[in-house]
Amino acid sequence: MKILLSPMALLLILLPCGVDAASPARSEYQAALRATPDPDHGAELFARCASCHGAEGEGLADGSTPSIAGQHFRVIVKQLVDFRYGKRWDFRMEQRANNHLGAFQDIADVASHLSQLPRKSRSNDGGTVALSPGASLYGERCGSCHGARGEGDDDEAIPLLAGQHSAYLLRQMYDSVDRRRPALAGLHEKPIKSLDFEQLRAIADYLSRLTSP
Ligand code: HEC
Ligand code: HEC
Repeated sequence: MKILLSPMALLLILLPCGVDAASPARSEYQAALRATPDPDHGAELFARCASCHGAEGEGLADGSTPSIAGQHFRVIVKQLVDFRYGKRWDFRMEQRANNHLGAFQDIADVASHLSQLPRKSRSNDGGTVALSPGASLYGERCGSCHGARGEGDDDEAIPLLAGQHSAYLLRQMYDSVDRRRPALAGLHEKPIKSLDFEQLRAIADYLSRLTSP
């Protein structure tokens, strides 16, 4: 007997399991977004993170550890859930996100504390940053999602990039196209893959000098 399937039904069967709405990662993400966050408890939890991320969440200038101060609430929640469920790979963070945080409430609490910390940009640019060669490349290829000034978008869980360490930004761009950060691969293939090292470095340098709005 022949079984006939509509193209839509076929598409649904073939969709990768990453979009499974009922996955444990998805449930935890949604539970953390629904929770009422307690930033004071988040500040206590953050004491476990400060040894790497710095007392004010500022990260390290060499880019080995990102600045997480002032990052959007939803972005932090999503990244922590991704680390906990093997959807983003970094040994140190997978371990910390699992061992140092309980369930969704802790995730919401620490994310709300971090999102309220001020982000400091690398330097005062004295007005020259708009002339940086990275500025126009950024505007053409990245601004439509990440915002005109690298401000990101909390509702869409799009990261704030302004004021992030340039070496970290550069590494994430490479990780995107080398598929070491699966959530970024599809989004970034088109805007990033065709750029050479100097262009990527220019964008990272530009972003690191922007002041977060
Ligand atoms: C042992 C050092 C270490 C500790 C402790 C640590 N982190 Fe991290 N964290 C890192 C590193 C390294 C990265 C970047 C991983 C990568 O390159 O993908 C990171 C990335 C992150 C990110 C993603 C940032 C972004 O822009 O996408 C978040 C959010 C984060 N950490 C939060 C936390 C929280 C919350 C804690 C405490 C519960 C914590 N970290 C503890 C080292 C650490
Ligand atoms: C189609 C929308 C889109 C475009 C265009 C785009 N990005 Fe992204 N980018 C995202 C989203 C969404 C994320 C977060 C995904 C996740 O991890 O959940 C992200 C994450 C990142 C990160 C990681 C941030 C962090 O804190 O770890 C960097 C760096 C980045 N983008 C740089 C760029 C640059 C540079 C360009 C342009 C050359 C660009 N993006 C273009 C949507 C986009």
